[in-house]
Amino acid sequence: MPIEPVAVRPRTGARTEREPMEGDAMMEGTRDSVEAAGSGSEPPPVAGPVPPGKAGRAERAGRRKAFAGRFALLPLRLFLGVTFSYAGLDKLADSHFLAGAGDPQSFYAQTVAAKPHSPVGWALAPALHAPTFFGLLIAFGELAVGLGILFGLWGRIAALGGAVLSLTLFLTVSFNVSPYYLGNDLPYLMAWTALVLAGTPYLSVDGLLASRAARDRRHGLTEEAVRRRTVLDGSIAAVALGGAGLLVGSLTATFIRKKPKPVAAAPAAPQPASGAAAPSVAVAAVPVGGSATVTDPGSGDAIYIVQPKAGQYCGLSSICTHAGCTVNPPKNGQLSCPCHGSVFDAATGAVLTGPAVKPLPKYTVTKAGDRLDLGPLQS
Ligand code: FES
Repeated sequence: MPIEPVAVRPRTGARTEREPMEGDAMMEGTRDSVEAAGSGSEPPPVAGPVPPGKAGRAERAGRRKAFAGRFALLPLRLFLGVTFSYAGLDKLADSHFLAGAGDPQSFYAQTVAAKPHSPVGWALAPALHAPTFFGLLIAFGELAVGLGILFGLWGRIAALGGAVLSLTLFLTVSFNVSPYYLGNDLPYLMAWTALVLAGTPYLSVDGLLASRAARDRRHGLTEEAVRRRTVLDGSIAAVALGGAGLLVGSLTATFIRKKPKPVAAAPAAPQPASGAAAPSVAVAAVPVGGSATVTDPGSGDAIYIVQPKAGQYCGLSSICTHAGCTVNPPKNGQLSCPCHGSVFDAATGAVLTGPAVKPLPKYTVTKAGDRLDLGPLQS
């Protein structure tokens, strides 16, 4: 049977050089970066003349939308890049972070406090065996992902690193924050996820590499040669950026880091100005389970006068002993800190949930008629 000639339709999708696509230039591993041919650093396609009238307006609006879409994630990328670079350097400059077991603000103490309440507490043992190594790993890790995402070098890998760091912090430090939206590590995790998906194709080293790869293809270089060249140049850029980060981090740790200050002594009892009455509130203002707030005349900090059980009064500092945030007033017999989720007992100030390890300073309260007077520090 004769074979009918088949008309072959030109494959419009077939190409030797594909169109730029969102996320093309991102390094999903070096392989993806080599294959990426769309250049984020290239300007948007050259706009032809805009037809007059309604059609022209529609086309201009379309171009504006395309431009906005192209750079929609740029503010997020800048924020995460600057924030994580800063967070890494801040840890390296912080005299407390690597201070060890005696300092409640140290990486070690915070890990100890987080371990019993973390769903991955079992995995924290290595960090407690080598706290300096893991502390430095986190600090330099934050710096590396911050710089990587800021410069857009192997952006997907950098974003993945940021997501892993944020997930780790969420599962350890802020897992017990309630309600969950007050913790900050979960939003960071979501923000990194967006960049893992979209990459950093524009205004980035990835974009430049992809742009050059596309040009090389146009000039007839084989795919293998293009790939090798992109991998090599990406690796050189990574080594240069990593070296710069290592240098800046080391200089920060060496020259900017201050010596640990002795752990602050417990706050003194509030001292009213001479002749002035001690801070006091009406008894009726402090219901059972509730509180009223007075101000420490010395420091200006708020102190909660609480009545955890009927007729039992005491004062509790509102300053979280973890990192100094203001804890919420008592609720259901507990005071919670919105920053990293520490929870304190409203009757004693004792830590119920870390990362805080020290109780809230507690003051005596004496009842005088229908007033409650704040007395000296108990503990
Ligand atoms: S738990 Fe970190 S400041 Fe309160």
